[in-house]
Amino acid sequence: MTNTTLLSSEFLLVEGGKRLKGKVKISGSKNASLPIMMATLLTKEPCTVRNVPKLLDVKNAIELLEITGVNVKFEDHILFAEAKELKSYIAPDHLVRRMRASILIAGPLLARLGKAVVGMPGGCSIGARLIDQHLKVFEKGGASINIRNGYLHMEVKKIKPVEHTFEVITVTGTENALMFLSRCDKRSILRNVALEPEVMDLVEVLRKMGVDIEVEGRTMVIKGNPELKGFEHTVIPDRIEAGTLAVAGFITGGDVILEGVRPEHMGSQLEKLREAGAVIEIIGLNKLRVIGKGKIYPLEISTSEYPGFPTDMQAQFMVLCCIADGVSQITENIFENRFQHVNELQRMGANIKLRGKTAVIIGRDKLSAAEVFSTDLRASASLVLAGLIAEGTTVVKEIHHLDRGYERLEEKLNSLGASIKRMVHARSII
Ligand code: EPZ
Repeated sequence: MTNTTLLSSEFLLVEGGKRLKGKVKISGSKNASLPIMMATLLTKEPCTVRNVPKLLDVKNAIELLEITGVNVKFEDHILFAEAKELKSYIAPDHLVRRMRASILIAGPLLARLGKAVVGMPGGCSIGARLIDQHLKVFEKGGASINIRNGYLHMEVKKIKPVEHTFEVITVTGTENALMFLSRCDKRSILRNVALEPEVMDLVEVLRKMGVDIEVEGRTMVIKGNPELKGFEHTVIPDRIEAGTLAVAGFITGGDVILEGVRPEHMGSQLEKLREAGAVIEIIGLNKLRVIGKGKIYPLEISTSEYPGFPTDMQAQFMVLCCIADGVSQITENIFENRFQHVNELQRMGANIKLRGKTAVIIGRDKLSAAEVFSTDLRASASLVLAGLIAEGTTVVKEIHHLDRGYERLEEKLNSLGASIKRMVHARSII
């Protein structure tokens, strides 16, 4: 008997036509958790981070922290981390390739050890994902940077105060700069910074650790501290998971209540949902009710930095536009290649034309089920949403993309009345 190897890949079977009803709790934010996890490198003291979602990206970040010598325990959405003694300043290529946000380890390692060797974060399917702004801040702070054998070799003796105006508004660029400067006890000024809620959650944590950060418009003044303290922090809810479930409730003509949300982080999304015909009720500080009455109006959407319409919700709103009563336009201004879900939606009957950065979507009364392939995290979510409203059962493949950024999305949707099955496709190779 030859021993065979089984290669398995998971996919979802999404049955169309179910109206979603009921309550669901939103998980903690992936994009707030990742930088905050890296910030634990900045102190020798123990740190506790609550409401951390159980995701592939979080698992990757834990692996990275452990490789550098951080003691990490993660159970029941609470992460304990203690970076008493670090043993390595290297972020290996195979891990960085799995998760672009690995670059967020560079700032803390340089601040703590004065050295960081990080695999070059390649581009990804949605775009080049440059890091030139991250590196400019490091260089202005006195770091030497050499690219060798696919790695960034960075070193700095003593971090100098920095004055930098970001040429583009960059979320992780702002986060890396803040962590890099967090132990420099002279004042630095960063201009044209990103103000996403996830960035501000990191600011909250750095302040708890002893960093003095003033925020005035898109300018931040930072005065660090060579001895930073440990911290306890509860991560903000994931506004993108919340938006994804809100769209699901609306387009299925349902009535859903999202619990544990921060509606003030979702302003631009809720505006567009209302414009499309959704009834939105804000219940107290952290509950949201979304009702779909059946009629869906077309939209004009243009993605931009927070508080503008988030690029991470572009694919999900495109599904809404596919069945709107009229012609919609979506312009993607942040990433140069974030329309890969269009091909897959067209296989389901969507009428979408691409003109450069703009997609023109002619609404139809329904989509039809098909076998579709996820290409990136938010595209995979949009294909699940399309399956919810398509006639028949849609097969969504390559769902490892989905698991990077959504904790048990199919279970959350099923708890609202959807009918989604996670299957494993195993094939043997000799
Ligand atoms: C963060 O990515 C998020 N990831 C992304 O979420 C999100 O889509 C993006 O911000 C925009 O909101 C995390 O927070 C882990 P950027 P980031 O640097 O920081 C260009 C998801 O789905 N740029 O704000 O990598 C860049 O090429 C992910 O959860 C430079 O030119 O995005 C892009 O076109 C996907 N030079 C634009 O700026 C730089 O040095 C915005 O990128 C940095 C960025």
